[in-house]
Amino acid sequence: MKVSVIGSGNMGSAFVKQLTAAGHSVAVSSRNAASAEKLAKAHKAKAVALAKAGEADVIILATGAADAAAALKGAGDLNGKVVVDITNPLTADYMGLTLGHSTSSAEEIARAVPGVKLVKAFNTVFAQLLDAGADLGKGGKVSVFVASDDADAKAKVTELAASMGFAVTDAGPLKNARYLEPLAGLNIYLGYGAGRGTAISPAWVQAA
Ligand SMILES: NC(=O)c1ccc[n+]([C@@H]2O[C@H](COP(=O)([O-])OP(=O)(O)OC[C@H]3O[C@@H](n4cnc5c(N)ncnc54)[C@H](OP(=O)(O)O)[C@@H]3O)[C@@H](O)[C@H]2O)c1
Repeated sequence: MKVSVIGSGNMGSAFVKQLTAAGHSVAVSSRNAASAEKLAKAHKAKAVALAKAGEADVIILATGAADAAAALKGAGDLNGKVVVDITNPLTADYMGLTLGHSTSSAEEIARAVPGVKLVKAFNTVFAQLLDAGADLGKGGKVSVFVASDDADAKAKVTELAASMGFAVTDAGPLKNARYLEPLAGLNIYLGYGAGRGTAISPAWVQAA
């Protein structure tokens, strides 16, 4: 698949690594062109200007929540494009969320950039775990929860996540980002607040 990653920070870097390893054709853009170039060089990806970031089958938005809408608006014509929102609207100390209950970061982004097929995914996976890869050993896989109002977009992102080895859970419509963002909040509490570290990730169990 032709995949574009916007952002070259913790998550952007891990995505470029895993996507290229899975054989996808990856373009990366960032506010800092030099950092996108360096990242691209390290992983056989290509660095592109933000204005060209929309030229892909799937666009992964890996900026902070506050920068997300502005970044997308600078990414060229995104009408009908599949965009993956991985953001968590965190407070400055990372221990709370700045919005929720009646909306979510995903819904705010969808409202700010109408016309994109927005998919919430990967927001519950720490960058360190994404960088390490989906394989937990003994057959275990890291889970990715995927929420969207567009069935085709959800299917495409499910295929993309599975191609990198993740177990995918269909988390329903985009408004379920109202659940997924607090779930990431709990993960951050457990990882940093409770000291369990970043090699943890939420998953669902089911009795036989
Ligand atoms: N870190 C995690 O473990 C984790 C896990 C799950 C979800 N998330 C979510 O993933 C997102 C990224 O997190 P991160 O830790 O990777 O953040 P980060 O390291 O701060 O990286 C953010 C990247 O976005 C770029 N950026 C910001 N505004 C931009 C714009 N207008 N156009 C292009 N690029 C822009 C930044 O460029 P500059 O370097 O120039 O500022 C930087 O490369 C956040 O929303 C976070 O909540 C993070």
